[in-house]
Order: sequence, then structure tokens, then C-alpha cells
Amino acid sequence: MNILIIGAGGREHAIAQKVSESPHCVKLYIAPGNPGTAKCGQNIDFKVSDISRIKNFCLTNDISMVIVGPEGPLVDGITDAFRSEETRHIGIIGPDAYAAQLEGSKAFAKKFMQKYRIPTAAYLEVNQQNMAEGLSFLETLTPPFVLKADGLAAGKGVLIIADINEAKAELQAMLSGKFGQASTTVVIEEFLSGIEFSVFALTDGKDYVLLPEAKDYKRIGEGDTGLNTGGMGAISPVPFVDEALWQKVKDKIVKPTIDGLHHEKMDYTGFVFFGLIKVNNEPYVIEYNCRLGDPETEVVIPRIEDDLVVLFQAAINKKLSSQKLNITQQFAATVMMVSGGYPEDFEKNKVILGLNEVNGSMVYHAGTIEKDGQIVTAGGRVLAITTIHEDFRKAIAISLSNADKINFDGKYYRKDIGFDL
Ligand code: AMP
Ligand code: GLY
Repeated sequence: MNILIIGAGGREHAIAQKVSESPHCVKLYIAPGNPGTAKCGQNIDFKVSDISRIKNFCLTNDISMVIVGPEGPLVDGITDAFRSEETRHIGIIGPDAYAAQLEGSKAFAKKFMQKYRIPTAAYLEVNQQNMAEGLSFLETLTPPFVLKADGLAAGKGVLIIADINEAKAELQAMLSGKFGQASTTVVIEEFLSGIEFSVFALTDGKDYVLLPEAKDYKRIGEGDTGLNTGGMGAISPVPFVDEALWQKVKDKIVKPTIDGLHHEKMDYTGFVFFGLIKVNNEPYVIEYNCRLGDPETEVVIPRIEDDLVVLFQAAINKKLSSQKLNITQQFAATVMMVSGGYPEDFEKNKVILGLNEVNGSMVYHAGTIEKDGQIVTAGGRVLAITTIHEDFRKAIAISLSNADKINFDGKYYRKDIGFDL
């Protein structure tokens, strides 16, 4: 069959690589893709938001399966658009806009978790009308205070504030539009102290298969310091996720979530990303996402030994109950190379050299473009360097030595991925 992947990051490169290896994939397209995905299939120069062009392209190119990488088009309704008469025969991996609110609205997700008794931090939903209640709720909490813009805010909508007066001022600023429309509703949460990890399920809306778990490193600085980023590296499996914790994750979080989606009759064929935190050996949900993580995908997908296209087709046919995943026992580690200055302002168009020197790692392109025959930087996160090895320290070391061989002006990467494990 012909397949289209939507997106342009390291996540989409990792998916494209794996999909291109399937004997069921005849032609692979990626919209818009990057120089890495261009080696797996054909890039199509469409914006991910250009839903009607994407639909037309699918019809004229006999596409049977669409895999949506990022959350934006899902929240904007790409799946709903494909449910119309002329494209109903095309299978799509990604929930409809209503279900994508599990990521697109923090208040929607919290209500869902409360209804299905899924462990998560205590919270209050606040808007202009009940601001006074919000200010009083803050008084009942132990610092630090967690304020979340309800809507998508490019990863910047969560504030963790030590001082109560500052938290109150920020709450007012958020409700007055600090993050635009995204923060006209704010979720105030109890702060949970523990260690975070991520779990991914592929669901057909009723059954699911679990992918390998992962841990990402969100902060820009070594020792988990400085500003939050999209993710500076990841490893899978996560050494502290033992059998007992995994069982709790399945029983208390994954199963009740998927049962909840089914009970709500949500149109959900796709990934559920559970952002979790372990507090005294108990898992809690920090957030849901309606897609795979980036850079988590760059360590999760390479560990899957099965044919991804077969798995996706089973999800589309609502036959996931008969699927079982085979996962390599080996570790995967990825180190993200970023542009100097990221996650604040950074320069682009820096020539990337040394890609051919890499040995023993996979290089997933994230923020790169091809210009005059050269690969140049085009984003904050530039390349993810993934290594598979039975020893996770060695996996990280090999990724780091390859990152050392790749050069571009201002390159930066964290040398301490896995430091806390
Ligand atoms: P979110 O976008 O909801 O994942 O939040 C971004 C980051 O803020 C998370 O990855 C956590 O590190 C942190 N965070 C969010 N909610 C909480 C919470 N209730 N307690 C502690 N940390 C949190
Ligand atoms: N790495 C975190 C995310 O993809 O949301």
C-alpha cells in the first residue's frame, strides 16, 4: 500500500525509517519531511496544517494509510476531515479532534482522569468567573505551585512557581491572556515530587498494545537545570520501571484510560502518550498526549521488532486484541544535538559536517534542510543520535562520541543523558 506520514521531526524520521522497511509499504510519502525522511521515501512540500491539500494528495496518489506525527493537525481535526465520504476508506493513525483534547485541553484531560479514577495530581479548573476560588485554592496547596494553560502553548504553558504571591500574580496574568486563548482557562495543580517517565499505547479505541517505556531529559542544562526544551535526549527501557511498577501502570492507568475512551465512544485510533511520575512507587499521570513523544520515539521505535505497518493496519481494522509486540531487550539511547541558544533565540542555516563519519549510531534528522547540496540547520533541535546496545552506558557513550564527530556552528548537546539512573 501507499502510505503518508505527516510531520517533519526526528519522530517522523524514526517512523518513516521503520515503515519503509515493511514489505507492505509500496510508496512512502512524508509531508513535509526533512532530509532524513527523504532517504526513506518522497517528501511532499505541504504544511501539516494544510488539511485539504493533504486530502487531495491522498486521493490522487492512492494512499491507504496516513500516520499523523504531531498533535497540531490532530487537535485541528485532520482525522475528522478524513472521515468524510470520499476519504473514509483511508486508514488514519491519530484520534479525532474531540479525543485529541486529551492533549489539547488540560481541563478536559483532568476531568476525564477524575471521572475514570486515574491517579493524578489534585487540581482546580479556573477562569475569569471563579478566579477568587483559584486564589483560595492556591492557599491550600504546599509550594511549589503548578499553573497550566488549558490549551496548547508550544510547550511553554506550564509554570512551576515557589512563591505564593508570584503564583497568584501569574494566575491573574494567565487568565488575562499571557498565553493568549490557551490560558483563558488555567488548571492549578498540586505539585508531585518524583521521577518522570513515559509510556505509549497504540489503541484502536477498545484494545491496545503497549510500546516500550522511555525517559526523556527535558531541561537544556546538565543535571536537569535551566529552561525546558522539547527534549534533549532519551533512553529506553527505563531501569527503575520494574515489573511491579509496570503492572501498576497497566492496571491503574493504561487500562482505565483505554476503557474510558471506549466508554466515551471516542474516535481514537492512534497513540496515547502517558506522561507519568513515580511518587513513592506509585505511578501518577502528569499529562496525556495524543501522539508519540519526540525524542522518545527515537528510542522506542528502534526497539520494536515487528512490522509497524501490520500493527497500524490492525489498529485501523480494530483488531489490536490479536497483536503482541516483540521488543528487543537491548537499550536504546538518543542524544539530541541542538542549535546554540535553543530553547531561546538561535541562528539557523549552519552547515552540518561529519554526518558520514558516524559509526554505530542512527542519525535521525529533526531541524535540518537541504540547501545548495548541503545539509544545514533549520530548527532548535537538529539531530537525534540513537544507539542500540545491551549496556545503556555504552549506548549513551557511542551516541556521544558520534555527536562529537558531527559539527555545526554553535552545536550543543547534553553529555549527561542517563546521569540519574
Ligand atoms: P505538562 O505539559 O503537563 O507535561 O508539564 C510540563 C512539565 O511540568 C512536566 O513534564 C513536569 O516536569 C512538570 N509538571 C507538570 N505538572 C506537574 C505536577 N503536578 N507536579 C510536578 N511537576 C509537574
Ligand atoms: N518529549 C516530550 C514530548 O514529546 O512531548
